[in-house]
Amino acid sequence: MKNLRFYCKVLKETRFLIGYLLYKAYNYVMIPSQQNQILIVDDSPTNANLLLAILKSAGFDVVIANDAETAFKKVEEVLPSLILLDVMLPKIDGFEICSRLKESKSTHDIPVIFMTSLSRTEDKVRGLNLGAVDYITKPLQKEEVIARVNVHVKLRNLNKQLETQSKELKSTLEQLQESQLQLIQNEKMSTLGQLVAGVAHEINNPVGAISANSVYAATYVRELVQHLQLHQQKATEAEIQNHAEEIELDFLTEDLLNIINTMHESATRIKDISESFKIFCRNDTHEKVPFDIHEGIDSTLMILKYKLKANDKLPKIEVVKNYCNIPHINCYPGPLNQVFMNLLVNAIDALRDSCQHNTTKCKNPQITIKTSLNSKKTHTVISIKDNGMGIPEEILEKIFGYAFTTKAVGKGTGLGLAIARQIIIEKHRGFLDVKSKYGEGAEFIIQLPL
Ligand SMILES: Nc1ncnc2c1ncn2[C@@H]1O[C@H](COP(=O)(O)OP(=O)(O)OP(=O)(O)O)[C@@H](O)[C@H]1O
Ligand SMILES: [Mg+2]
Repeated sequence: MKNLRFYCKVLKETRFLIGYLLYKAYNYVMIPSQQNQILIVDDSPTNANLLLAILKSAGFDVVIANDAETAFKKVEEVLPSLILLDVMLPKIDGFEICSRLKESKSTHDIPVIFMTSLSRTEDKVRGLNLGAVDYITKPLQKEEVIARVNVHVKLRNLNKQLETQSKELKSTLEQLQESQLQLIQNEKMSTLGQLVAGVAHEINNPVGAISANSVYAATYVRELVQHLQLHQQKATEAEIQNHAEEIELDFLTEDLLNIINTMHESATRIKDISESFKIFCRNDTHEKVPFDIHEGIDSTLMILKYKLKANDKLPKIEVVKNYCNIPHINCYPGPLNQVFMNLLVNAIDALRDSCQHNTTKCKNPQITIKTSLNSKKTHTVISIKDNGMGIPEEILEKIFGYAFTTKAVGKGTGLGLAIARQIIIEKHRGFLDVKSKYGEGAEFIIQLPL
């Protein structure tokens, strides 16, 4: 009881302060009328009419209910912005109405202000505990009623606005995540595309060689078997000699060896290609492993070989390797190869692009790959440099940005360098820098801790 009295005293004093602030706020708060439907629930017509007059004078739309049943009906009909609820009502009292409203999903957020007589402190506490936002005491004071109603309606409208905004934000965020996924998917597809094109192109030649030579090999073997059979059947010297001339035995024997050698070389080439793909696609992403980065660069070059070749419009791109004797480094090989791929594809695209726009740049398109240790021997340095058109100064700052691209729609996602940066800096704690002067090519420098 002592506690309750203390609590009520504090509440009373706080209310005085709030009341003053609310009165001040009333002067500033203007509320659009369509969001200002107020429901008065009071069985005393004198009180209800007085409130109606006060609230109407302040610009609110007012609906009155004299008992609980009408109150619930009106709430359903108009979904008011606020309810002024008398405590003492016949049959179902104000507390019961309040707790039912708070239990329902459609009405739980409608602010309720209790109306109670000044002396009944425990009613005020009970009402607030049931979820009411405030209370006003009878006899009613016009300014106080308007100020409290105004502020709670305003608060409710702000809450609604916030709710809508946060819903909009949530849906924008979902859309962003969706397009981010789409971009990443495109980037993955583009790497996969390079891989598939690389495999198809590189495997094409040796497979073609094996296939064409196997036809000759089969004919030669058949003829050799026939020749052997003549020996087995103890044919005459003349018959054997004639057959040997017919099948050009000396040439056949020599050519068959050549064919078998070619087929063997082609098979070895396919094996090497498959090894390169295995190196490129290494998927040990869980922990760092010692890796020969030259192997990584070479396997990437092998995949991109078809892009470096000359075609009817563009000359061959020369790759100059300047490898230094560096130790294996502890790294994530798969993602690192992805970085080499992204940087090399960018260099190839830049060279092809420069070539199309500037014929003098077309003479000797070149990519120089240099590896070394830094002077303090703490980092491996890998430089990938091209002699294309370079990067204009005004976009140099932006190229590592997420989804930044100067390529035509559908040709670039703009994720290549953003991903490279993330792999080098965040995953490997290294550095990725660019040096470029427009017209003089571009150099990307990776530094990886040893
Ligand atoms: N070697 C380079 N020479 C000239 N410009 C370059 C070079 N490398 C990157 N850029 C510029 O940086 C931009 C961003 O490169 P990034 O690799 O992030 O995306 P992209 O190549 O446009 O698209 P994606 O890699 O997703 O296919 C490129 O569009 C290009 O303008
Ligand atoms: Mg790129």
